Amino acid sequence: MTSNTDRERSKAGALQVKGEILTIRRAGDYYVIVFAAPGVAQRTRPGHFAAVAVGGQPTAMLLRRSFSIHQVDTAGALGGTVEIVVDAHGAGTKWLVERKPGDSIDVIAPLGRPFSLPKDPVSTILVGGGYGSAPLFMLADRLRERGCRVDLVLGAATASKLFGVVDGRRRASALHVTTDDGSMGTKGRVTAVLDRILDDYDGQVIYGCGPMPMLSAIAEIAQNRGIASQTAVEEAMACGVGVCMTCVLPVRGTDGITRMVRSCTDGPVFFGEDVRWSDVGTVPTDCLGAPIAQPESSK
Ligand SMILES: Cc1cc2nc3c(=O)[nH]c(=O)nc-3n(C[C@H](O)[C@H](O)[C@H](O)COP(=O)(O)OP(=O)(O)OC[C@H]3O[C@@H](n4cnc5c(N)ncnc54)[C@H](O)[C@@H]3O)c2cc1C
Ligand code: FES
Repeated sequence: MTSNTDRERSKAGALQVKGEILTIRRAGDYYVIVFAAPGVAQRTRPGHFAAVAVGGQPTAMLLRRSFSIHQVDTAGALGGTVEIVVDAHGAGTKWLVERKPGDSIDVIAPLGRPFSLPKDPVSTILVGGGYGSAPLFMLADRLRERGCRVDLVLGAATASKLFGVVDGRRRASALHVTTDDGSMGTKGRVTAVLDRILDDYDGQVIYGCGPMPMLSAIAEIAQNRGIASQTAVEEAMACGVGVCMTCVLPVRGTDGITRMVRSCTDGPVFFGEDVRWSDVGTVPTDCLGAPIAQPESSK
């Protein structure tokens, strides 16, 4: 079962590369950027992310922006290409999508711990919220190569915020779509269809990437059924490489002790049952190293 497999890490560490942008295309509300990244594609596993420098030089935007790696291609003369999916909303992502083919971007990748793959050909369900579906297509390919059934569930607030519907039909055993406003697929959240799919296909593992409330709901459904879930979290990041502790969240270890762990290096993929979802954004008092409350009299 998935929880017993070793985490597949990249074959070697992350690289810092100057990647030439090859194409930028619209996909609904998102942009798909393809760039050359020599050596990165070969090291990438589903669930890895890339940290991209934004703003050019000089810039006040000191921090890199993180993006799940959507696709890689190891063929061709460029030493491999990488695709990311960008939701342009703040200064950094807007700068990125305004680049032109031929421009170069500074990228560190692949980063983080990727999804684990099951040893046996089990039935799996992949759930992506909005651009959170980006890393799930590579994952679907790897799972199907291992003989797994792959049900892909794509959800978003509205149709234009879905990513990968056409591709999903081709890559998964079956595609299920939900939108909050009913503009495509089943009206409602992804959780509205999960129980039925789990029942119909005897789902053994749920993989999720998307907003934290969605991941928390997936983890709860999996736990209630006694099956595994793996969730790729999106905590705000600063350095992306394990130095600054910006991205910590409370996670239970195999010893039952909760620690504040870095989602950039210990994640972004965690087993759903290990994350203390309702305590994310806090340091729980029972967490290892949490500050001990001083009695009033000693202050
Ligand atoms: C592991 C991981 C994978 C991600 N994958 C994708 C993806 O595939 N596609 C995509 O569009 N976005 C993705 N994001 C979110 C993306 O990193 C942020 O939207 C982006 O950093 C925002 O930068 P900005 O300058 O446009 O926005 P601003 O809001 O101006 O950002 C200001 C600062 O806050 C940080 N920040 C703001 N929002 C987020 C956020 N949601 N997550 C992390 N840091 C944030 C930025 O790094 C920056 O330092 C991912 C985040 C993480 C952590
Ligand atoms: S973002 Fe700096 S430690 Fe994770």
